[in-house]
Amino acid sequence: MTVARAPGKAILLGEHFVVHGTGAILCAIDKYATVTVSPRDKGVYVKSRYGELEFHDTDLKGAPEHHRPFLNIATELGMKVDTIIDSQIPPGVGLGSSSSCCVAGAGAMLNSSRDGVIETALRAERSVFEGASGADTAVCTVGGIIEFRNGEHKVVESDPILLAIASTGRIHSTAKTVEAVRQYRERNPKEFESACKQVKGLVGDARNALDSKDLVSLGAHMWLNQELLKEIKVSDATIDKIVEAASRTSYGAKLTGAGAGGCVIALVDDSNCQRTLEAMRACGAEAFSVKTDMDGLRVGQTLS
Ligand code: MEV
Repeated sequence: MTVARAPGKAILLGEHFVVHGTGAILCAIDKYATVTVSPRDKGVYVKSRYGELEFHDTDLKGAPEHHRPFLNIATELGMKVDTIIDSQIPPGVGLGSSSSCCVAGAGAMLNSSRDGVIETALRAERSVFEGASGADTAVCTVGGIIEFRNGEHKVVESDPILLAIASTGRIHSTAKTVEAVRQYRERNPKEFESACKQVKGLVGDARNALDSKDLVSLGAHMWLNQELLKEIKVSDATIDKIVEAASRTSYGAKLTGAGAGGCVIALVDDSNCQRTLEAMRACGAEAFSVKTDMDGLRVGQTLS
């Protein structure tokens, strides 16, 4: 039996634009998906919050979406395994639920916490969402805070940060919002190019703010990024309301992940975390705080 645990993630800056080459800054968060695999005689068995499935085919086209990434990994590696998934990460709200499961699945089946994991996990994720940039699988594997651009990541040496998170409770489809942004770009090429340029600059400046532990500057850059996410129409009235409320008490707030529902993050520290969570709850959102996970993927026979 092998157990693997991978963190979820929040995108501090650059979601959507990263698909178009701007770069992004991501933070692994201390909410986890755990995948346990053990050998079996035939086929692949998967059990998760979406139900149970026994699969004996090598053609994955007909496999249900939620189970397909695990079948993809097992088929690639020629493994016959029982695969049990247990996740603390709310699904479909931009906190890396699916990437974290892909990373933990790859780690458990490869019995490795690094070698080949990012690539295997990304192929698994792309079996359901072809356009994935790879940013989420990278940060869920290495943990901490990373800068991601064009398939490559660099770890940002930073102290752990604290985020207040509000869930709108509205589940989104990342693939659909990424496609909607592609269509926006086609209709508004000049505006989109200008927004990309600005995001590139914000990502660079935010990286400097992290290096110098300047939360005020980092938060301000997150807020500016939110304005550009609004421009490309991935924000909505609920998100805007929470961002406005959280901006009054935190260093800066924005949507995280695909938008169109999902979650808002606000950069906080111990001095303003509770007030920000209350401000988020006053908007009717479910709110909780997370801090940076510094470990990334962990793999073993048991995990303490
Ligand atoms: C989703 O968490 C982030 C997006 O930028 C898509 C991606 O990078 O694959 C919307």
